[in-house]
Amino acid sequence: MERVLTGITTTGTPHLGNYVGAIRPAVAASHRKGVESFLFLADYHALVKCDDPARVARSRLEIAATWLAAGLDPARAVFYRQSDIPEIPELAWMLACVAAKGLLNRAHAYKAAVDANLAAGEDADAGVSMGLYGYPVLMAADILLFNAHKVPVGRDQIQHIEMARDFAQRFNHLYGGGQALFVLPEAQVEAQVAVLPGLDGRKMSKSYDNTIPLFEGGARATLEAIRRIVTDSRAPGEPKQPEGTALMTIFEAFASAEESRAFAEDLRAGLGWGEAKQRLAARIEEELAPMRERYAALMARPQEIEDILREGARRARAVATPFMARLREAVGLGRLSGAASAAPRKADGARAAAARPAVKQYREADGRFYFKLVDGEGRLLARSRGFEQPREAGAAIAALRAAPATAPLEVLEAEPGVDEARLRATLAALG
Ligand code: TRP
Repeated sequence: MERVLTGITTTGTPHLGNYVGAIRPAVAASHRKGVESFLFLADYHALVKCDDPARVARSRLEIAATWLAAGLDPARAVFYRQSDIPEIPELAWMLACVAAKGLLNRAHAYKAAVDANLAAGEDADAGVSMGLYGYPVLMAADILLFNAHKVPVGRDQIQHIEMARDFAQRFNHLYGGGQALFVLPEAQVEAQVAVLPGLDGRKMSKSYDNTIPLFEGGARATLEAIRRIVTDSRAPGEPKQPEGTALMTIFEAFASAEESRAFAEDLRAGLGWGEAKQRLAARIEEELAPMRERYAALMARPQEIEDILREGARRARAVATPFMARLREAVGLGRLSGAASAAPRKADGARAAAARPAVKQYREADGRFYFKLVDGEGRLLARSRGFEQPREAGAAIAALRAAPATAPLEVLEAEPGVDEARLRATLAALG
């Protein structure tokens, strides 16, 4: 099943740009059939940008309430907080060890900070934390841990997805042993309006102070902001050029193609900017008003949101924990008991291990007889229970070999992250 994953950094209060660019498409995707949605609050990322605990806490609550109010169904989508998933920072470290520093040097956010420093005559890295520098690595961990296929993001984030693909490829190459450990994710940018312009026509962004509020402040705050959208000074009655204006682009984000054409036509025919703003506000309200009510109700019951997020984290970890165990194994941080059979790599990087999986018998200190199943890379997949006699162990092995697809697997205890399908495929490959 196709897995779609996106995160939103929990700084600030969600604005219309966040809604159009991230929340709305992600919520829509979460309702599509055949799609599995993972949506999360990127609250570790928030620490990169904000050192005010009260603001981080408040923003987390507001953003969670926003997504739920915008129609996210937590029974369908897996909705969680990044900081509830310890496997994310764990994976981030592993990825940091394959991420090329030179690549991170080219990350837009970091480069912008360096350029600003140099322009101000400062040291290039003044005020740059490792959190900012490693931001793309943490983001890659968010995505790769869940093997997301599609990542809906704004255009400004495409570079980060490309970096995630780069790290995934390196990791697969180094540790996959011919198998892909990570899915290579793809950025999904809404073709129509991915980046909503703000009041001044630049990208709507908190850092430009040009945003239109989403729910906070009620309908009135939204209308007031819309009134401040910058236009040219053409008077009512004068023909306008709507193409590419902030007003028109925002309208398009909330209206059908047909409505947008009619709106542009009216502007060309002389519709006043003031009236056009009223129409834009009314169009936006149609969509937002019912959500705003749900938002207020949720904000009044934060414990309900907490419970929803905890349940989401439980579901996310049901995926993350076994996968992380497999990754630990892949890099050589698995259980020590698997190490004896793991063959070291040749100096040229090729695997020295036999290409075939194997069953290995041994005797434990308890005097009983055991066997274990290892894959072609020498990785431990499962261990048997103990047998009193070596013959019994041998008979159990023979039964598994004879009918790999159907033999009962009760005698085996699979390693974390190894499912039945993998065990049976490996048994079949024993020959
Ligand atoms: N960096 C993203 C933003 O600022 C937020 C984010 C963090 C994210 N981790 C992610 C988005 C993983 C998609 C997938 O918008």
